[in-house]
Amino acid sequence: NWTPDAFVETTVAELKEKLGDDRVILGLSGGVDSTVAAMLVHKAIGKNLYCIFVDNGLLRKNEFTEVLKKYETLGLNVIGVDAKEKFISALAGVTDPETKRKIIGNAFVEVFDEESHKVENAKWLGQGTIYPDVIESVSVTGGPSQTIKSHHNVGGLPDYMKLKVVEPLKLLFKDEVRRVGRSMGLEDKFISRHPFPGPGLGIRILGDITAEKVQILQEVDHIFISGLLEDGLYDEVWQAGVMLLPVQSVGVMGDERTYESVVALRAVGSTDGMTADWSHLPYEFLAKISNKIINNVKGVNRVVYDISSKPPATIEWE
Ligand code: XMP
Repeated sequence: NWTPDAFVETTVAELKEKLGDDRVILGLSGGVDSTVAAMLVHKAIGKNLYCIFVDNGLLRKNEFTEVLKKYETLGLNVIGVDAKEKFISALAGVTDPETKRKIIGNAFVEVFDEESHKVENAKWLGQGTIYPDVIESVSVTGGPSQTIKSHHNVGGLPDYMKLKVVEPLKLLFKDEVRRVGRSMGLEDKFISRHPFPGPGLGIRILGDITAEKVQILQEVDHIFISGLLEDGLYDEVWQAGVMLLPVQSVGVMGDERTYESVVALRAVGSTDGMTADWSHLPYEFLAKISNKIINNVKGVNRVVYDISSKPPATIEWE
């Protein structure tokens, strides 16, 4: 009989024991996992926890400033690092999904390494890794070694990095993490936030990534997510987002022919992300969002809705 309160109590005690007077660097993403991980470590070691929130250039519209603002209310010591240039230039010309994930993962590690040198006596890297991240990143049992998707926050650290890893949520599923957050008094704006992948929009732009494509996708995503919030549908779906496809199609605007990008809206219901069903969003809502996107976002002239479930599809397209 697992309870969130008992989990907090034992975990904090274990962390105190394990970490002692060491300092911990922890990467925050604004999502519930890393936030709850930070709260647990903070409860155990207080001001010896240094949180880092990286702008990798692949965040949602306005996310960097909004998330930093949200953290002010939690009393965590958070440093915001602008690393947009680093990520976008490392990704230039790369189209293979797993290569993108690896590049993004490595760039995160480099940023954390750099930041950790600024904190004297930093010995640990804290991460909000949860159980599904771990299982989906390891080989399928019995079969040939095959990773479904490498999660950037799984897989250990390179030798040059002297930090040890601490992952207090490693055995929990998302709904359990949310219960732990709630029991620690975390506000609903953190708890009810949809999951967002560590590699961010980088795995929602199929094909190569450019700053311009990121900006287009940020605008489209913003229209979709704000629409869900406005119409009271946000909490009805487990996760939602948009993919920018590497496909152009012919359209007509006024009496001009257009030849522009296609975006795919994705919304799913799930409990743990391991399986998922596409959400049956109302047609009227989809119609409104589609019009809004095409009328407002330059570079997009077609919107499609993803009606695949997981398995056999996955939630993200890469
Ligand atoms: P898939 O696409 O594998 O996604 O069905 C399952 C859930 O995991 C999220 N996801 C990630 N989260 N780092 C993360 O922190 C990652 O590299 C990553 N890849 C996928 C995805 O958004 C969905 O919620």
